Amino acid sequence: MPKNRVLTGHRPTGPRHIGHLVGTLETWAALQDTHECFFLVADLHVLTTDYAHPQYIQDNICNMLADWLAASIDPSRATIILQSAIPEHAQLALLLGMLVTVARLVRVPTYKEHIRELGIQPSLGLLTYPILQAADILIYKANTVPVGEDQLPHIELARETARRFNQIYRQIFPEPEALLSRSTRLPGVDNRTMHTSYGNAIYLRDTPKETTRKVMSMYTDPTRIHPSDPGHIEGNPLFVYHDVFNPNPEEVKEFKIRYQAGRIGDVEIKKRLAEVLNIYLAPLRERRAKFIAQPKMLMEILHTGTERARHIARETIEEIQVCLGLL
Ligand code: TRP
Repeated sequence: MPKNRVLTGHRPTGPRHIGHLVGTLETWAALQDTHECFFLVADLHVLTTDYAHPQYIQDNICNMLADWLAASIDPSRATIILQSAIPEHAQLALLLGMLVTVARLVRVPTYKEHIRELGIQPSLGLLTYPILQAADILIYKANTVPVGEDQLPHIELARETARRFNQIYRQIFPEPEALLSRSTRLPGVDNRTMHTSYGNAIYLRDTPKETTRKVMSMYTDPTRIHPSDPGHIEGNPLFVYHDVFNPNPEEVKEFKIRYQAGRIGDVEIKKRLAEVLNIYLAPLRERRAKFIAQPKMLMEILHTGTERARHIARETIEEIQVCLGLL
């Protein structure tokens, strides 16, 4: 059994923002040096909530892929998979579903949140979302799953399901472990969680001009009315961003001191932030522009990765079928 296999993925919901970059994609890119990596385009998972808007999926896949590659996800060192193109994912989900109770799935916190947020009658597909995710991981016998904190309940379910399967039949699956991504969580420009649907995200594909506009409109310290008022650093997104993107810690330190003393205005801090952010993103944007202009090549990369993964998925399903008496 492979010892250091990584599987993780995103739902293709559109272009990636700098929160994805800092929290996630930089971690994935680094793992390519040490692990055998599988990165999944989880298009089936999109349908659990967004089944009525299929016209956007293809475009979203291209945009997400271009961003992944721009962020140094490297198809020559990692396997990029299109979930829906390997029916074995759905097949394993169906089979694993036999081992998981409805009561257990109803207790998954993301399920409850979704229902509350969307105010909808949950579908069967939404209820079984975490089983499909468990199948994504277990079908490749991955040991390590880099994810954000919000995904931990899903990884826990995958672990339980693996354990249960191994107990009933035989030792087939490793119990996958979550690898939590770097703790800095970039807030959106309005200081809420950065989220595509909140309109508060800075995207990798934004132009430098758009980026500057967003930074200049950023939420700062609401108690500060004049530049001469002493300002607050904690929980101030300007400084969260400077800490991440400004390559000069001395400058950031000086900004903080002057800010707290009321000796520098928000505008100056923001202008400098827009500058350092645009410098940080420039090489990524250049690569992204190249990739997005070649949709054929993007599809080829996806195709190659998917074909590589298909064999592994097939093998696992055959093992599982024997266990379950299906011949
Ligand atoms: N649920 C994950 C998310 O929304 C996406 C995902 C699907 C995933 N399958 C996965 C993540 C398997 C890790 C492993 O971000």
